[in-house]
Amino acid sequence: MTAQIIDGKQISQQRLAVVAKAVTGRQAQGLRAPCLAVVLVGHDPASAVYVRNKKLACEKVGFDSRSYELPESTPEAELLALIDEMNADNSVDGILVQLPLPEHIDSQHVLERIVPHKDVDGFHPYNVGRLAVKMPLMRPCTPKGVMTLLASCGVDVVGKKAVVVGASNIVGRPQALELLLARATVTICHSATQNLAAEVAAADIVVVGVGIPNFVKGEWIKPGAVVIDVGINRLPNGKLCGDVEFDVAKERAAMITPVPGGVGPMTIATLLENTLAAAQMHDQ
Ligand code: GUN
Repeated sequence: MTAQIIDGKQISQQRLAVVAKAVTGRQAQGLRAPCLAVVLVGHDPASAVYVRNKKLACEKVGFDSRSYELPESTPEAELLALIDEMNADNSVDGILVQLPLPEHIDSQHVLERIVPHKDVDGFHPYNVGRLAVKMPLMRPCTPKGVMTLLASCGVDVVGKKAVVVGASNIVGRPQALELLLARATVTICHSATQNLAAEVAAADIVVVGVGIPNFVKGEWIKPGAVVIDVGINRLPNGKLCGDVEFDVAKERAAMITPVPGGVGPMTIATLLENTLAAAQMHDQ
C-alpha cells in the first residue's frame, strides 16, 4: 500500500480563505480587522522563520499584526511589562510570545502573564485546564490543527487507538487531550516508555512530535494507519525532515503528512482562526 499524502498546505489555504472572508465580513459591519501581536526575543533562526511566516499569514488574510523583536538580553521584567501593555490594549486581540525564550527568562511566568482570552497559543494554564475539562476556550494551535487535518481527510477518530509520541506542553500533552475529547483511546509515549515500537505498531492513528529526525521507524507503522508527523528538523545538508521515517512509513500507512507541507501550515492557519475567535469575543 502506498499512502495518501495529506496536503496540509492546501487544507490550510482553504481555512485561511474562510478566515479572510470573515475579516471582510467584519469590515462590512464596521468592525476592525483582528490584530495579532507577536513577540520574538533573541535570534533563534528557526523562531525567526516561524515568526516571519506568522506575520505573512496575517497580511494574507487582512489581519493587523504587530511585531516586537527584542534583544536576547531583554530582562524578564521588561517582557512582562510589554505583555501588561498589550493585555490592556483594546486594539490587540491575540498575543503570541515565540518559544523557546532565552534561558534567563522563566517561560511559565511569561505565558501566565498573558490574559487567557488573548492567549491565542492556548498555553496559559487556564486554557490548558479548560481543554482538560472538556470546555476548551483557546486551544493550542498545532494539536487543534492536527484535528482539523484529520477531519478534513475524513478520518473518523471515535473509538480508534491513537498513540501520541512525545509529551511536550506544546504538542504531545494537548494532542492527547484533543484526541481524548474526540473519543479516541489514547496512549502517550515519552522518553521512559518501554517498547515504543510495540506501542506505535498497535496504533490506528500515530501523532509524533519529538524533534528528532526519523525517530519513528517506518517498519513500526501498522499497515493502514494514519501517520501525522509534527516534527520539523533541519538536517546537516540543509534539508527539512520530520520525526517519522517517511519513505518506509508511506509504504505501510493509509495516510501520512509530509514534512514540510503537512502539519506546519495548519499550525499557522489555526493561529489565525484562534485570533479571529479572540476578536469575536472582544466585540462583545
Ligand atoms: N515554538 C514552537 N512552536 C510554537 C508555538 O506553537 N507557539 C509559540 N509561541 N512558540 C512555539
